[in-house]
This record gives sequence, C-alpha cells and structure tokens, in this order.
Amino acid sequence: MASVTFEKATRIYPGGTRPAVDQVQLTVKDGEFLVLVGPSGCGKTTTLRMLAGLEEVNEGRILIGDRDVTQVPPKDRDIAMVFQNYALYPHMTVAENMGFALKIAGVKKDERAARVLEAAKLLDLEPYLDRKPKALSGGQRQRVAMGRAIVRKPEVFLMDEPLSNLDAKLRVATRTQIASLQRRLGVTTVYVTHDQVEAMTMGDRVAVLKDGVLQQVDTPRALYERPANVFVAGFIGSPAMNLLTLNITAGGVKFGNSTIKIDSAVLAKTKEKTVTVGLRPEDLVITKSDGIAVEVDVIEELGADAFLYGSAVIEGKKTDVIARIGSISSLRSGDKVFLKPQGGITHLFDVKNGARLNNDVPATAKKAAAAKPAAKTATKKVAAKPAAKKVAAKPSVKKPAAKKPAAKKK
Ligand SMILES: Nc1ncnc2c1ncn2[C@@H]1O[C@H](COP(=O)(O)OP(=O)(O)OP(=O)(O)O)[C@@H](O)[C@H]1O
Ligand SMILES: [Mg+2]
Repeated sequence: MASVTFEKATRIYPGGTRPAVDQVQLTVKDGEFLVLVGPSGCGKTTTLRMLAGLEEVNEGRILIGDRDVTQVPPKDRDIAMVFQNYALYPHMTVAENMGFALKIAGVKKDERAARVLEAAKLLDLEPYLDRKPKALSGGQRQRVAMGRAIVRKPEVFLMDEPLSNLDAKLRVATRTQIASLQRRLGVTTVYVTHDQVEAMTMGDRVAVLKDGVLQQVDTPRALYERPANVFVAGFIGSPAMNLLTLNITAGGVKFGNSTIKIDSAVLAKTKEKTVTVGLRPEDLVITKSDGIAVEVDVIEELGADAFLYGSAVIEGKKTDVIARIGSISSLRSGDKVFLKPQGGITHLFDVKNGARLNNDVPATAKKAAAAKPAAKTATKKVAAKPAAKKVAAKPSVKKPAAKKPAAKKK
C-alpha cells in the first residue's frame, strides 16, 4: 500500500491549446478511497492515465509512496486499473480471465489458482469460476473485471467509471460492494465518475475537477456544507443548490420582500453591488407572504420527499427555484407560494469570480465540535484503519506471496 501524490501535474495534448489537466496538486492517503468527479471532458480519465503511466506528464511529478514514478513505465508502477469498457476474453473462463495477467507475469500455476480463488471468494464469484463471460449477468461480469485487478495485489487501484455499463439498480448495489470491498482490502484507490451521487456515497474524500483544474478536495460532507466556489456548489447535491443573484442592501441581501441578514464583514469582501447567494432546496420553506413569490411549475413526489420546481422574478429576472417540501402536498402547477430560507446555511459567492465569501460553520458541525473536539478525524481513522488491518490478519486473504511489500520498496 502507498499514498499517491500529484505535484503540479500537467498534461497538454499535442495540438491542444490549453492543458487537459492543469497543475493538479493532490495527495491521496495510504488506503484512502478518493473519487475524482467532474463533468464530461474535465480531465478525469487523463489524470488517471497519467498516474497509470499511459499518458505523458508534461510538467510536474507523480509519486507513489515516496517514489517518483513520473518516468516509470506502466508495468513497473504496481497499479491495477479497471476501465469503463472492461472487455473480458470471451473464450476464457472466469478463472482464466482473472488469472491472465498473473500468467503473463509468469506467476506459477498453483499460486495463480490460489490468488484467483481468494479474489473469487471476496467477490462472490466462486460458483462461476468455470463459466464463460457470456453466461454471466452484467453485475457478475463487472465483478470479474474487479477480480482481474484484485488478483494482482497492486499498491493502487485505478477505476474509470467501472459501473457505467450497469443498469441503475445494479449500479447502486455494486457501488456499495466496491466501496466496502475497498475498505476491507485497504488498497489506495482513485475512482473516476461524472456522477456526483456516486462520488458522495463512495469516497472518503472527493476531488472536484473542472476544465482540468482542481476546484476542491474534501470529505463529502464538507463539500456539501462548504463548497469553495459556485461551480462546486452547483455540481454537488441533487437537486442542485439554488444560486441566485441578489442585491446587497443594508445589513444583508434583498430576498423578495424580505432581507437575508449577512455579516457586513462578509459583504465587504466583494466589490460588486450584487452577490451570488446559494440556498439548498432543503433550506427553503413555504411561508404565507414572506420572501420571494414563486409560481409552481411541477411538484415532484418521491415518496419520502417532494420537491417544488418553480420560478420567481428576482430583481426583474425570471429565475428557477427548487425547494424541498413535505411529502404530502396539495400544491399544483400554477399555484403561487412564498419561499424563504430557514435554518440552513446561506452560501455566499462573489458574482464575478465565483469564490466563496463566507466561512459559516454549519450548525451540525458546530454541534459535533462542541460535543467532542476533533470527533470528526477520530471517527474517520477508526473507520479506515482497523478494516485494513483485519484483512491482513484474516488467513483466507493473507497473501501466499508475503514477500510482496518488501519486493515493492525498490
Ligand atoms: N488523446 C487525446 N488527444 C487530444 N485531446 C484529448 C485526448 N484525450 C482527451 N483529450 C481532451 O482532453 C480533455 C480531457 O479529456 P478526458 O478524457 O480526460 O475527460 P473526462 O473527464 O474523462 O471526460 P468523460 O467524463 O467524458 O470521460 C478533453 O477536452 C478531451 O477532448
Ligand atoms: Mg473519461
């Protein structure tokens, strides 16, 4: 196992006008599950391929542990990759597919069989070892692809949208399996997805990328509660955060017929007359006559929750607004309501550069901090570490090649 460090890593494709990956500075901790997320074309695959050694690094360095691997060929980096299109060899059985890389690497037959069996047990694939891929379900095939990576016992796993071939229900089940498997194995993992829900549910930390530039790296909760800029604010969370351009007035910002109070020191940070105010749908409530007047477009009933999609005229401009409302609602399309913020966090961003202006600590974090100082980091460690140790102690998962870590060092 090892950490991974990108030091101002940059990739400019030949003929490209701007970098596909731009000075990425990022450390993935030993044993951590880091998710790289961002819209299509933001440079996720390129970042992963740079780490794998499949893409040149034009500037900066990449380290695995304390070893600079920037110039090291892919086969000597001790990483295993699971791609989106994890084509299995159709003429080989599951066992042969899983053991193929080991065979190429010259691993002896007995050890190969042992490692394949061990991985098959972890992945619930034991009953299928003699089957051909065509006789497997999509989820089982996906697990074989994972198995191929696991048998190699790499220092780092790289996964590029490995679930995109699965249907919605299977994706949810498989993402839980992958996340729990990673925690049992304790192998440092970089996982790429464009799906923010996948990112938030799977990652120890999430790195948000836009146009090749890293926007923020943090725990899912921190990203949600304190997005560093407008892009992260709008990207993380579903339905998305309401991002409204509001006029600055004395003591706060104008929100329809009311004022949202804001510390003058925060507003002093912007030179503009307006400010981008971010309000999560769950932080808006329906009122009789307070706040902004909203016309209901659609009520989306989800069972436990319902969301109101509507529009308001804010400072003369028609603006879409989303609010979470009680699941039982008599509201219909065309109805008029008032919405105002209540309880949650008012996120403030500079209208020009999108940077976050306020440092408000969310009420939940305040409570946790008051109850137990440093509770957050403590729980994190407990969750990550013993899980990894358990694996090492478990005989069924113990590596026959126990020399591996030593051989790895250099
Ligand atoms: N081989 C290449 N040559 C030139 N440009 C490339 C090459 N591969 C990717 N790019 C460009 O680099 C940028 C980043 O591409 P990349 O494949 O890393 O994006 P991504 O975040 O993985 O997107 P997606 O979610 O669609 O897979 C894109 O603008 C893309 O067009
Ligand atoms: Mg990609």
